[in-house]
Amino acid sequence: MEVANRLKGIEEYYFSQKLREIDMLNKEGKNIINLGIGSPDLPPHPEVIKVLNEESEKPNVHAYQGYKGTPVLRKAISDWYRTWYHVDLNPDSEILPLIGSKEGIMHICMTYLNKGDEVLVPNPGYPTYRSAVNLSGGKCVEYKLQEKNNYQPDFDKLEKKKLKKVKLMFVNYPQMPTGQLPTKELFERVVAFGKKHNILIIHDNPYSFILNDSPLSLLSVEGAKHCVIELNSLSKSHNMAGWRVGMLCCAKERIEEILRFKSNMDSGMFLPVQLAAAKALSLGKDWHDELNAIYKKRREKVFEFLQLLNCDYSKEQAGMFVWARIPVKFKDGFELSDEVLYNSNVFITPGGIFGSAGKNYIRVSLCSIEEKFEEAINRIKKHTWKEKE
Ligand SMILES: Cc1ncc(COP(=O)(O)O)c(C=O)c1O
Repeated sequence: MEVANRLKGIEEYYFSQKLREIDMLNKEGKNIINLGIGSPDLPPHPEVIKVLNEESEKPNVHAYQGYKGTPVLRKAISDWYRTWYHVDLNPDSEILPLIGSKEGIMHICMTYLNKGDEVLVPNPGYPTYRSAVNLSGGKCVEYKLQEKNNYQPDFDKLEKKKLKKVKLMFVNYPQMPTGQLPTKELFERVVAFGKKHNILIIHDNPYSFILNDSPLSLLSVEGAKHCVIELNSLSKSHNMAGWRVGMLCCAKERIEEILRFKSNMDSGMFLPVQLAAAKALSLGKDWHDELNAIYKKRREKVFEFLQLLNCDYSKEQAGMFVWARIPVKFKDGFELSDEVLYNSNVFITPGGIFGSAGKNYIRVSLCSIEEKFEEAINRIKKHTWKEKE
């Protein structure tokens, strides 16, 4: 069967292909250590699981739920934004719970893009921005994030581009894959740019609690609600990636526009999941501190691993990965990743999958127990590296 034209040029997600290969290598007895994907390996807080269990046992929670999520969850999101980000959101009109923030990216593109509309996407950046834009008929215009600019957009360069057709701009700090933290000045500049050019800024903010003590929302910039939609998620901050709970926060009008699309796509979320998510959002600083203490220890091991590979990296990264520049003797991150996979049975992500500007980098996930990192280090130590000077 011939697939629709909209799928032309849309490839299977890199990880879905690579996981198949890793599966085959494991079947051959290779016991691959996968340091690729950022799916938290730790469980949610026990109180969160308790709410899910208790609520699921009730007879009246199994029906379809409203398209805008339960008021309990919207109120919890509003409280969470006020407590952590110092942002006021009306729980009735400025918050839309999502089945994970990834679906929100697609909903936004389907809501706003006509054929040929342009969208600024970061290079390197989360590949889903590009595929969602392409699937919805829009056109990606990449903006480069470079190490020498602290992975911030070069606004002078952006100002010189033809921006007339640009309708949306994806921004994401703490940035994935580079781990770059935002500054208040950067966020002010982004909002000013959006306002000046009448571009709707989509800020994707799922990593602000991981290895970062000062979570920042783009909505905290004055006047941001007029030109910003912020996506957020419980996947990483609360170890709930498989539960699929995210949110979209913005002006009432935007929520209503996006609901016109989304309400035709799904029929709400399981109520016990929403109530457990509300519980998760009420967790205090202890929860994040405990989680970050674990990630910090793991990150030390990853630094050790990267030193063995002669990679360069900044220690000031946030999020659940470490981004590192590869030694010049390798053609690109794909070559280094393959060498490590086939010789040491360790998988690390080549930076090139996040865009051409990630070519000379690799990304290592922190989502494995410490022993796995130690084993990965031992395997690298045993390997004799091909000389390629
Ligand atoms: C930058 C970025 N945005 C969004 C997502 C999607 O997260 P969610 O689980 O909320 O769909 C991810 C997941 O890996 C991500 O890395």
